[in-house]
Amino acid sequence: MGNMIYHSTKDFDLKNIEIGDVPAYTHTLMVAPEHFSIEYEINPYMNAAGEKINHAKAFEQWLSLKETYVSLGYVVHTLEGVEKFPDMVFAANQSLPFWDIANQQKSVILSRMRHPERAGEVSYFRDFFKSQGCKIYELENGYFEGNGDLIPLPGKNIFFAGYGFRTSSENLENISRITNYHTLAFELKNPNFYHLDTCLSIIDQNTALYTPSAFTDAGIELLKKFFLNLIEISEPDAIKNFTCNSHCPNGKDLITEKSNSKLFPLLEKMGLKIHPIDTSEFIKAGGSVYCMKLMCY
Ligand code: ARG
Repeated sequence: MGNMIYHSTKDFDLKNIEIGDVPAYTHTLMVAPEHFSIEYEINPYMNAAGEKINHAKAFEQWLSLKETYVSLGYVVHTLEGVEKFPDMVFAANQSLPFWDIANQQKSVILSRMRHPERAGEVSYFRDFFKSQGCKIYELENGYFEGNGDLIPLPGKNIFFAGYGFRTSSENLENISRITNYHTLAFELKNPNFYHLDTCLSIIDQNTALYTPSAFTDAGIELLKKFFLNLIEISEPDAIKNFTCNSHCPNGKDLITEKSNSKLFPLLEKMGLKIHPIDTSEFIKAGGSVYCMKLMCY
């Protein structure tokens, strides 16, 4: 097997790689927001001294996201929140579930979270995946923030991987080796887009939303080569509405922050059914739809 990490259009050509199918995710994992709050500042959105979280509102918003996944036919698991981990509600960050093709086995790579404030969240995810009978992998060094930075191309053995803020580039090699998936690597440049899921939303194999100012020129070129229909979202929109944190679990339904409404006609014209969700309480901590759940098997 040759190198499976691609940083630019020079080393990536779809014609030369062997693409395999993986089953669609059928389950999702969420963490209840009872202890969600802003106690520290680890991204530019967080203001610990600022406006407090409205807990009743946060719970209502979280519940409506959960009900949306249930209505789309997913089994939704929930973990209880933990008081000392106010960001644990962002369930995309502690791990990366994937399908091991060679062994036909549901598997997960645990994160090594960048900030000590969040590192302890990972063990709750380890326990959950152990109880689900998943094969569990751990990384030895550096940082990795799970599905926040590693976004699978639905149904295929391809990851889009962000690095630079919460995930170290050395771990892309390790993840590619563990999973045996092809990995398109994107260096993230802009602190407003500290996880790949804040600046890239994959809708299907041809379509994605992205914010150019988050990426290097090589990254933009690679995205343009891959997606026939690459829709540009401006930096102010991506920051205010978390547009690129939308989630399309099945190529048909798009779950997105409700303040993205000016984009809905275009998305509907593409055949998508829009599920608008109010995530305003969670945006205060730097996350929205994609960050608040973890697709798994
Ligand atoms: N406050 C959290 C953090 O900075 C937000 C995480 C958002 N998650 C995401 N997948 N973008 O770690």
